[in-house]
Amino acid sequence: MIVAQLSDIHADGSGGRLERLDKVLNWLKPMRPDALIVSGDLAEAAFDKSYRAVRERLEAVGCPFFVVPGNVDDHGDMRQAFGARFGWPSDRPLNVVGRVEGLRIIGLDVTVEDGHYGDAAPILDWLADELSSSNEPTLIFQHQHPFLTGIDGKDRNTCHNGDRLAAVIEAAGDTVLALTCGHVHRPMFTRFAGRQATMAPSVTLANRLRLDGKESAIVDPPGLLLHHYVDGRLVTHVVMVG
Ligand SMILES: [Fe+2]
Repeated sequence: MIVAQLSDIHADGSGGRLERLDKVLNWLKPMRPDALIVSGDLAEAAFDKSYRAVRERLEAVGCPFFVVPGNVDDHGDMRQAFGARFGWPSDRPLNVVGRVEGLRIIGLDVTVEDGHYGDAAPILDWLADELSSSNEPTLIFQHQHPFLTGIDGKDRNTCHNGDRLAAVIEAAGDTVLALTCGHVHRPMFTRFAGRQATMAPSVTLANRLRLDGKESAIVDPPGLLLHHYVDGRLVTHVVMVG
């Protein structure tokens, strides 16, 4: 099965951001994903209009989809747009759980009011309860990264309490296959809680890669991740839609 992951659409009421989203979704169409996840920052302005435009496009993909908020999202407007689908009773946290073809997908809302950083602490008890309710293979997604990227200036706004999040994941044994996030607008691959951890490229403009005082130009087109899960094996593909 294929779980497609989009991140950081940053819709703002203008056509440009949605054009990039359409480009990515057009690429995705022939892959016919089994599920679609969006790891936050769906919109950054003109929220009501932006969420409706994004939701229409996600619905048109024709598979189950799941979203979590990022730091620039508006919780109230996001709940208005997606709350009926995900049963969100209040503005925070906007967590989601879904099951597609034997894979449990958990979306964690680690955002913090008025903060660009995230914090896993408020949702840890909820996550521990959810994980202990079954040992189905599970993919976790969230917005802010609970690991260090090493990119200069990009580790100020991580997901705090990553060590406690890792402990909850580790306590669930082999249940969690991987954790994936967004937020930094660059694709990357590392380890977290002893398992695969990824970050999806952004739909909107990428950030520069700054490592050890050296920096790249921004040449990155929009992109996405495809998590391919078959026979208990997860392989993640990165796709840039140039
Ligand atoms: Fe973000």
